[in-house]
Amino acid sequence: MRTLLTEQELHAGVNRLAGEIDACYGNHPLTVIAVMTGSLVLFADLIRMLSMPLRVGIVQASSYRGGTDAGELVVDRAMMIDVVGRDVLLVDDIFDTGKTLHRLLDELGQLGASSVRSAVLLRKQRPHAVSIRPDFTAFEIADEFVVGYGLDYRDHFRNLPFLGVLEADDLAALSGESA
Ligand code: IMP
Ligand code: MG
Repeated sequence: MRTLLTEQELHAGVNRLAGEIDACYGNHPLTVIAVMTGSLVLFADLIRMLSMPLRVGIVQASSYRGGTDAGELVVDRAMMIDVVGRDVLLVDDIFDTGKTLHRLLDELGQLGASSVRSAVLLRKQRPHAVSIRPDFTAFEIADEFVVGYGLDYRDHFRNLPFLGVLEADDLAALSGESA
């Protein structure tokens, strides 16, 4: 596996991200919501670098598989924190097609949040399927499949402290194992 971002580079990037968020909101209270499961590691680091009064929550969004519409995203509201009249920041691991964030931003608006912005660790340089962009981005990366620092391949590698690129031979080695 090739290292794309080291632990130190990730730390510096998240610190920069926190600085931009602090500059935007000042000391204004904020509700930050982690998109599970990929943003888990970023979220834990980021919330400890922010200085305004925070409420934290999580949301689960998963793409519905097996149906005819492969792009359908199912949002589980069960664990969702109350957002009515709150300024909300949605935190996700990566902006790829952008469909996940687009859908969730819409959902939070419908639930009555007074403002909703988004922060991501990574944005892939590729054509995005939606017109929105994340408000805060730590790193722009090439269109490669990355794992580590929360990001997975079939739920593996989330615990790696660095960000690695999963290449064709890594995938071949993995498909030899039972996943
Ligand atoms: P979207 O395409 O922007 O909706 O992103 C959907 C989700 O796909 C992200 O939240 C990630 O969980 C996952 N994803 C996209 N690209 C990668 C990648 O390179 N590695 C691991 N997960 C990814
Ligand atoms: Mg994922």
